[in-house]
Amino acid sequence: MNKAIEFKNVSYTYLENDVPALRKVSLEVEEGEFVGIVGPNSSGKSTICRAISGLIPHSYSGQLDGEIIVKGYKTQEVKTVELAKFVGMVFADPEAQLSQNTVWEEIAFGPANLGIPKVEILKRVEELVALLKIEGLRNKSPFTLSGGEQQRVAIASVLAMQPDILVLDEPTSNLDPQGTAEVFAAVRSLNEEQHITVVMVEHEVELLAEFANRILLMNKGEIVLDGTPSCVFRSTEIVRQTGLNVPQVTEVIEILDKEYNVWGQRPYPLTVEEAIKLINLSR
Ligand SMILES: Nc1ncnc2c1ncn2[C@@H]1O[C@H](COP(=O)(O)OP(=O)(O)OP(=O)(O)O)[C@@H](O)[C@H]1O
Ligand SMILES: [Mg+2]
Repeated sequence: MNKAIEFKNVSYTYLENDVPALRKVSLEVEEGEFVGIVGPNSSGKSTICRAISGLIPHSYSGQLDGEIIVKGYKTQEVKTVELAKFVGMVFADPEAQLSQNTVWEEIAFGPANLGIPKVEILKRVEELVALLKIEGLRNKSPFTLSGGEQQRVAIASVLAMQPDILVLDEPTSNLDPQGTAEVFAAVRSLNEEQHITVVMVEHEVELLAEFANRILLMNKGEIVLDGTPSCVFRSTEIVRQTGLNVPQVTEVIEILDKEYNVWGQRPYPLTVEEAIKLINLSR
């Protein structure tokens, strides 16, 4: 397998800060992984995203040590415009990323700026509206859409540059449950069907536990846990020490087990479906 992202001993301190935002972070992400990042406020989640997309060091001032390699390129040595061909970044506020009069123009904007021929742009837009299930919105103004629709348009416009890696920093934090579900479903299909490597920061631990293949738990600029969702969220004590919650189902079963000693050697479930399966298996 090829490496999509590699951090070698990366530390970063923003210009006005004394405290490092990242402390000697080492990380390898293989192509095709779906990595979820969780952690309390100020733990460095957004900083990691900025470092992957090249915004750090190119658009932020600060001290960067160590090496960040994306698709084999050292980000310190490659311009952000070039990196945009490998890495797409989606932020929490979809409206802030939108600027065009129609959804169609919004998706075509990036490739048009790169001078890509019109026939090719047309093809990409058509593929993306189908992929993100926004065909009916082509001629609408992006500013009249629901939050979930806007975020899918934002994702489509980033994907129009055909990046191999999609970095999403809390893409559902301004969305209602319906919009959140739409975005998670879209990201899953991009990962599973288009083999796009996904790095996603999220507060929704339940959803990340269900969708991601791997979870990084960050605290104070360090990755304190790195493993499968079950491995990370079953380390309930460590997760709670950082001030985060584990999925509710995990918590309920843990309380029942501690109180009544009913769960035995079975692993704690992360989702309702998993809990039902584990309970049924033991009957
Ligand atoms: N633009 C900036 N300038 C100066 N310091 C910053 C900047 N952005 C973040 N920091 C600092 O870097 C540290 C890590 O911040 P970061 O935004 O990466 O955390 P986060 O985990 O994304 O937090 P949140 O959950 O609040 O989004 C914090 O101490 C923060 O104050
Ligand atoms: Mg953040």
